[in-house]
Amino acid sequence: METQEPPASEPAAASGGTGTLYRRFVEPLLRSDDGADAEQLSRLTLTALAQASQRRHWPLVEGALAGLAGELQRRDPRLQQSLFGCRFANPVGLAAGFDKNGVAAAIWDRFGFGFAELGTVTWHPQPGNPRPRLFRLAAERAALNRMGFNNEGARAVRRILERQALPAPGQRPAVLGINLGKSRVASLELAPDDYASSLELLAPLADYAVVNVSSPNTPGLRDLQEESQLRRLVERLRRLPGCPPLLVKIAPDLEDDAIDAIARLAYEEGLAGVIAVNTSQSRLGLEQRVLTATGRPLAEEAGGLSGRPLRARALEVLRRLRATAGPALPLIGVGGIDSAETAWERIAAGASLVQVYTGWIYEGPELVPIILEGLVRQLDRHGLRTINEAVGSGLPWS
Ligand SMILES: Cc1cc2nc3c(=O)[nH]c(=O)nc-3n(C[C@H](O)[C@H](O)[C@H](O)COP(=O)(O)O)c2cc1C
Repeated sequence: METQEPPASEPAAASGGTGTLYRRFVEPLLRSDDGADAEQLSRLTLTALAQASQRRHWPLVEGALAGLAGELQRRDPRLQQSLFGCRFANPVGLAAGFDKNGVAAAIWDRFGFGFAELGTVTWHPQPGNPRPRLFRLAAERAALNRMGFNNEGARAVRRILERQALPAPGQRPAVLGINLGKSRVASLELAPDDYASSLELLAPLADYAVVNVSSPNTPGLRDLQEESQLRRLVERLRRLPGCPPLLVKIAPDLEDDAIDAIARLAYEEGLAGVIAVNTSQSRLGLEQRVLTATGRPLAEEAGGLSGRPLRARALEVLRRLRATAGPALPLIGVGGIDSAETAWERIAAGASLVQVYTGWIYEGPELVPIILEGLVRQLDRHGLRTINEAVGSGLPWS
């Protein structure tokens, strides 16, 4: 029998131990809605990563992390970019919400990421919503979550980051953003002060900060996307001494006019960029899909939808932002990216950087090198010298 070699141009997925372990032990748990509890799995992973981050200089841990980096990192000068004063080794980042308290801040580069966004962090520590609050929609490669900004609060997060003795901002192998949200107990009127308290404390540790006004799980939060409210909030934060580059993260459920207003505001207020998008309150064609855990259709469930069903809308919002803001405003594309092709599509549509969350969970850690290798191959095919030339080029995946 003939053995078939994969064609030379196909993605050479990392074939090391991490990928194999993930495929053997984790992936089977993700194949159905009611396999392992999604939040429990994340928690277990984070507990292990927190230990590794804290003890990363211990010889055994150092060796294991070097092995991980050897498998997952892809260094290529063509993928580097400087944006809003930060140097990104590559354009693929971990989206906010996975490492909410920054417990693994020191080791996200070992997973191949060019940047990681920690948080959402609120001023007050808060437990979030009652469980279950994170649901897998395995067949759709999607998730529904109504976590509600569970996090330990800005003071504790500062201590967690300090304990890890991170290199100073600007000197880290992976850029670290800190995503900030409104505490549940803070009124909308006092929201600027609430965000400002967190930013004051965390600014010295952040390469960039994100004003999250788009989570669907904090009542009233998304009202802060309204132009005058957002302007008041951003102006308050930008006045703080030592304010890092400030970005705004927006929802996919905004009307075109509201997207345009935010693009203009970003320009006028000198924001470093816009992140599009957060999870969706629309059910994106899945209104009648029954959640296995509760027996109710998604139309009747609270929470935000992420993953593959969000992809088309996320791309649409990004295109709209790019059309209104022009090429000068850096955009970060997130929502439903789970392959090199979907990352390329977002970059070609105007994203300087992309982030992954749900796709990274389903595909496993190999997704990062698969995307990075795929991007480099596209640059070659289109005769581009750097990833920056691909941003907003409209060039197709080929
Ligand atoms: C379980 C879960 C928790 C999240 N928590 C946050 C969060 O705290 N802050 C935030 O800005 N986005 C949060 N997000 C949204 C993601 O950062 C991302 O914008 C969204 O999931 C779309 O990307 P994806 O389709 O790759 O998951 C969360 C997403 C998930 C699935």
